[in-house]
Amino acid sequence: MQIQHNISLKPFNTFGIDVIAKHFVSVSSIEDLKSIFSSEDYPQKFILGGGSNMLLTKDIDALVIHLNLKGKQIYSKTKTEVLVKCQAGENWHEFVLWTLDKGFGGLENLSLIPGNVGTSPIQNIGAYGVELKDTFYTCEALNLKTLEVETFTNEECKFDYRNSIFKQHAKGEYIIVNVDFKLSYNTHALHTNYGAITTELKKMDIDQPTIHDVSKAVIAIRESKLPNPKEIGNSGSFFKNPIISKRAFLKLQENFPNAPHYIVSDTKIKIPAGWLIEHAGFKGKTFGNFGVHKKQALVLVNYGGASGTDILKLSQLIQETIVRIFDIKIETEVNII
Ligand code: EPU
Repeated sequence: MQIQHNISLKPFNTFGIDVIAKHFVSVSSIEDLKSIFSSEDYPQKFILGGGSNMLLTKDIDALVIHLNLKGKQIYSKTKTEVLVKCQAGENWHEFVLWTLDKGFGGLENLSLIPGNVGTSPIQNIGAYGVELKDTFYTCEALNLKTLEVETFTNEECKFDYRNSIFKQHAKGEYIIVNVDFKLSYNTHALHTNYGAITTELKKMDIDQPTIHDVSKAVIAIRESKLPNPKEIGNSGSFFKNPIISKRAFLKLQENFPNAPHYIVSDTKIKIPAGWLIEHAGFKGKTFGNFGVHKKQALVLVNYGGASGTDILKLSQLIQETIVRIFDIKIETEVNII
């Protein structure tokens, strides 16, 4: 374990923002993590996972700890179910492909999501009608006060839309070191009802899809709509889809009768933030080397060389404009650092 100094974090965040970490260490075991947290050498610490859900707006005057724990393993298998354990530093999409390659189902709709396995439970990643919580079994997390490893069950994580205990009252108190998933084997329950998947499978001429077909369809949809962070810096959805009261929705409908919406409960309605941003005139807008993606208004992009502050200011302008036009507040999904 080697501590480095004045390291650029550009390769470690999918937005490609060039900020400096005063100190930097890549950690590949729980023992190393424990020794860092029990030492007083660097009192300020900052945890870095896949760097796919953060906007860095300043240099980090701390020890940046890059979680690089690797390994995946099958540890229980029946005719229809399998339990797999994956270490936090594994790339999410590579893990999904590994499960599919073994014939395990459940993660196919979550193909091509950027980021690492260890951060996936924090915001309960989700796409195309499936969320992480649907296959999450347990995770192990290092308690940063006691330096003991604790196990969290699915229920204990209190998963919700882009939310979990690790974003709420346990925020900053734990580092997730590995995640166990319960996946299907031989018999799979596919989720293809999400509009775009059905259309994509039809395009592929498939009417009896396998988990591999669903994954391919999801990859094709994502590639057609979402920019590849290896080519254009971005963090996926920059904002969450706002959930508003039925009363606020009826008011919105008076002025915008065609506003798309999903019913969450008797009193709550979810509005796609992408629609709000597009109808506020921002879709595809560029401001020099950054802007709003042309195919999906929820995604802010860095075309190269933009600063985190540039993107933060744009996000604030979007938020203010949406309040003015629609009287709706949209919250960021990415963490602003
Ligand atoms: N829409 C627009 N204009 C846009 C984008 C969207 O009008 O530019 C409207 C359309 O009405 C469209 C609706 O929004 O039908 C929904 O769009 P989409 O299916 O693309 O989904 P989303 O709600 O914009 C969410 C997730 C994505 C996930 C997709 C697919 C959030 C914040 N985002 O986006 O997640 O891939 O559904 O399931 O919930 C991510 O979290 O990084 C991410 C990409």
